[in-house]
Amino acid sequence: MMQGTRYQGILFAGAGLTLGLLLALPEAAQARAPDPAKVMGATECAECHKEETETWKKTRHYKTFKELPRNKEARKIGKALGLRRVRSEGLCLTCHFSSKTEDNGKTKPIAGISCESCHSPAKDWIKRHSKYSGKKKETETPEEAKQRWIDAEAAGMIRPSMIYTLTKNCYGCHIVPEEKLVNKGGHPAGSPFELVRWSQGEIRHNTWHNSGKENRPLSQERLRLFYAVGVAVELENSLRALSTATEKDRFAVTMAKRVQIVRLRARRLARATKDPDLIALARAASGARLSLGEAKSLAGVADLVAKAAKSFAEKHDGSKLAAIDRFLPKSKEHKGETRAPGS
Ligand code: HEC
Ligand code: HEC
Ligand code: HEC
Ligand code: HEC
Repeated sequence: MMQGTRYQGILFAGAGLTLGLLLALPEAAQARAPDPAKVMGATECAECHKEETETWKKTRHYKTFKELPRNKEARKIGKALGLRRVRSEGLCLTCHFSSKTEDNGKTKPIAGISCESCHSPAKDWIKRHSKYSGKKKETETPEEAKQRWIDAEAAGMIRPSMIYTLTKNCYGCHIVPEEKLVNKGGHPAGSPFELVRWSQGEIRHNTWHNSGKENRPLSQERLRLFYAVGVAVELENSLRALSTATEKDRFAVTMAKRVQIVRLRARRLARATKDPDLIALARAASGARLSLGEAKSLAGVADLVAKAAKSFAEKHDGSKLAAIDRFLPKSKEHKGETRAPGS
């Protein structure tokens, strides 16, 4: 598995501690960890995507690379989990850092949460998505452009149009599905994350498709989709996390509470929109028994929620979802400051 790659402990060396995980990565973490052999690194993206990169550099996602290793809390968590001189790829790395396999075969962390944490490792799609099929922007035909995007997606690229997949990525880290890390390590069980609030502040980098003139706010239609898909994925992932709980402790309790709150939100959305997918997922979740020993049924409900969420995201462009407007957070609630291009 991942034992072959070595984490040298550079980042946490100050504490004389190497944070990693004694165990091989649990399945959930493996699914989340991007393949370091396919990571290019943000400096590659920056060659063309200057504004997006400057915006990223102002975010916590960027700054955590330098700051986390000095964080006392991080040392405490490491200690509580007995993470000493562990040289395997660490569990911490999968959510806090981007790792890359260098030409010499060594894998090491190169940045915090970066472009490819959200758009997926780019080795197989970076050339294809950017080269206008070997022509100039003006001479590429619409058919060629269409095929180019089909190829980029087939090679794993996560594009802005793929709202469900993008959102799954955020929640894959922002709900922490690791019981031991939470109960024994004392790590937060996740963030008070809501997609509109958390994506439209410091994270927003809609500066490409208008040539960097403006950091475009989302359209009302897209805001509605973000909000509803965010609720659906939060429900899915908190149900999934709860399904893995084995003891009545902080992890299980926090996840059960989270399910309770977000399923109410889903019910309100379903009632307001009368959308069949939202009705289906709210109904599935309302019957779920939020207790230990329900692993199978909870995972089953999470699957139903996922299916309905995907169907919802594919069906809608947001234009028929005005009923969601009253649920949308105000722009002053957005997390962090949105960067203006050139600033
Ligand atoms: C050689 C220049 C170049 C490099 C390097 C590059 N891109 Fe792009 N990127 C482009 C171009 C050109 C487009 C727009 C193509 C179009 O609109 O048809 C684009 C579009 C995008 C989009 C928007 C896709 C969409 O659906 O609208 C994303 C996301 C993106 N790039 C991410 C990245 C990431 C992440 C990296 C680094 C791993 C990267 N790019 C590296 C040139 C580049
Ligand atoms: C499943 C993803 C995930 C894993 C695995 C993970 N973290 Fe985190 N961590 C997060 C998220 C998300 C936050 C932000 C929580 C919030 O919003 O308050 C966070 C926050 C933290 C913080 C507080 C940061 C601050 O700026 O105050 C520390 C310290 C931390 N993590 C250390 C660790 C250590 C050490 C490990 C490995 C033993 C680890 N994390 C593994 C997702 C993860
Ligand atoms: C935290 C996740 C995340 C990170 C990190 C991230 N992106 Fe994005 N990116 C997104 C999301 C979400 C969107 C779509 C937003 C929307 O639809 O309005 C997006 C949109 C884009 C677009 C299209 C912008 C436009 O004008 O429509 C480009 C290009 C892009 N990202 C490139 C990058 C590059 C380059 C980096 C690294 C420097 C990066 N992204 C880092 C999540 C991320
Ligand atoms: C690979 C894991 C990962 C992914 C994917 C991810 N995040 Fe994060 N995010 C984190 C961690 C870890 C932190 C906390 C960093 C710290 O404080 O040291 C964080 C912090 C943030 C913050 C700053 C919060 C604060 O307290 O100031 C925002 C905003 C944010 N994330 C939004 C998003 C959005 C929106 C997406 C998806 C489009 C996303 N994140 C995807 C791991 C991730």
